[in-house]
Amino acid sequence: MGKIGVFDSGIGGLTVLDELYEVLPKEDFIFYADSIHNPYGEKSDEELYQITSDIVEYLIERDCHIIVIACNTATTRCIQYLREHFPEVVFIGTEPAVKVACDGNYKNTLVMATPATIQSERLQLLIHDNQKENNHFYLAPCYGLANAIEDGDTKKQNEIIYNLYEEYKENNIDSIVLGCTHYPHISELISSYFKDAVLLDGAMGVARETKRQMELHNLITNQGTGNVEIIKTK
Ligand code: DGL
Repeated sequence: MGKIGVFDSGIGGLTVLDELYEVLPKEDFIFYADSIHNPYGEKSDEELYQITSDIVEYLIERDCHIIVIACNTATTRCIQYLREHFPEVVFIGTEPAVKVACDGNYKNTLVMATPATIQSERLQLLIHDNQKENNHFYLAPCYGLANAIEDGDTKKQNEIIYNLYEEYKENNIDSIVLGCTHYPHISELISSYFKDAVLLDGAMGVARETKRQMELHNLITNQGTGNVEIIKTK
């Protein structure tokens, strides 16, 4: 019986897995938390291609026909490459919730993401395709933040968010796109500085899209028990 493969550079993927579990309670999952390679967001495309291909090969061996990339960085940098190299797999990506910000008519949106996501063409395209006249985007590459969350380094997390607030406190930020799946783990900290901003992330959208694609490709088993096998590389 096929399982749903989910991977990320660590605990970020859990924020997506939570929603997947809600939407698909009768499936089983393998969650590959690749903490040893964290941070993905500060690696080259070549390194990321290698790392993610190895994970995909492993998940295919474990009978996963659908793989959820529970990571904005790996999605924006590698999903095309992975789709070309593993055409037998259905890939679902996680992307910064830029469309949600545009649809919600927010005026000043701060996009927090890893440097690799911020520099990606995909993010530029998402903004270009969805932006309305009144939407203004501020792009913040959060160096070291995913790693500080992975390592539970609260001092560093606080320092990074404090500096971010100092940089953008005059910009009337009304919404923040959490463009890295690690960031929802510190949403309270972020909200404690940016008190007037609504936090947006794409996890629920990813879960719904996974279910839709599974239906489309006849991959729903309805025979699982919501079991999650966790593989942690560190
Ligand atoms: N959680 C990942 C993301 O959504 C990446 C974190 C990292 O390893 O840099 O971008």
